[in-house]
Amino acid sequence: MTRPESADTPTDAPGPTMEGRSVFPPRAIPVDLRTDVAHTARMYDYFLGGKTNYPADREAAEEILTIYPNAPATSRANRAFMTRAARHLAADRGVRQFLDIGTGIPTPPNLHEVVQAVTPESRVVYVDNDPIVLAHARALLTSAPTGRTAYIDADLHDPTTILSADVLQATLSLTKPVALSLIAVLHFVPDDVEAAEIVRSLMEPLPAGSYLTITHIAHDLDPTLDAVAAAYRQHGIPMVARDHHQMTALFTGYDLLEPGIVALDRWQPDAPSPSDVVIGGYGGVARKP
Ligand SMILES: C[S@@+](CC[C@H](N)C(=O)[O-])C[C@H]1O[C@@H](n2cnc3c(N)ncnc32)[C@H](O)[C@@H]1O
Repeated sequence: MTRPESADTPTDAPGPTMEGRSVFPPRAIPVDLRTDVAHTARMYDYFLGGKTNYPADREAAEEILTIYPNAPATSRANRAFMTRAARHLAADRGVRQFLDIGTGIPTPPNLHEVVQAVTPESRVVYVDNDPIVLAHARALLTSAPTGRTAYIDADLHDPTTILSADVLQATLSLTKPVALSLIAVLHFVPDDVEAAEIVRSLMEPLPAGSYLTITHIAHDLDPTLDAVAAAYRQHGIPMVARDHHQMTALFTGYDLLEPGIVALDRWQPDAPSPSDVVIGGYGGVARKP
């Protein structure tokens, strides 16, 4: 039997200590990449045309493509939304601190590259629980000299661990506005009550003037997304599509920015949508009053 690949060996695995102006938690034990089973981060990377995926991921992703050929277009639209939303918050709203949970495999432009292009002193904390993202986190730690980036290997279901992590406390000041982004990650939390509680727990300690950005696959935009979620579940990945009403509920208590919760490609587009592809996800950004 071959030994599972380990993040102990990749040459781009981040080091255990301070790296430039980036902070990184010590990594005491090797992590098992489990390349024999499909992982959502690597399937998404495949949809985006990336190279950080393995046969099990590609096989599962190809299965999704047979039922949802728009997966690459929706994934690209999601990534483009992230870029526009982060740029808007940095350039037009003056946000200098970002907490991005469910970061994914580094894919240029990464969030810190977007916001530090606007304001080099921006600080960004990334969080993901997938070992492959941890193994490639070095690409997320390339902060501008006057800014700072950090990575936390943690689970979205544990907001307390994330918010109290030493690297978060050393990187962000929770007395100043923070833009929390949950981009294409809450659909891996199938229970509505639990998803809302995660959002509430993460936003509650942030001061007024903080922002919440969410994207989510949506079955009222494209009913095929229910079959997509079911296919992910068959691969052992809990996933659910939601609708506009459920997405709105996640923003309860916050003031949605224009144009509200809309299909990803309709949110403050740089240019009119170039194709007729139905994008199967919603995006929204809101301010904490
Ligand atoms: C579809 S990718 C989205 C990546 C990126 N946010 C984007 O939209 O381009 C979902 C990411 O969420 C991460 N993720 C899923 N469940 C998570 C959890 N419970 N805690 C932390 N990260 C999680 C996955 O590992 C993956 O990297």
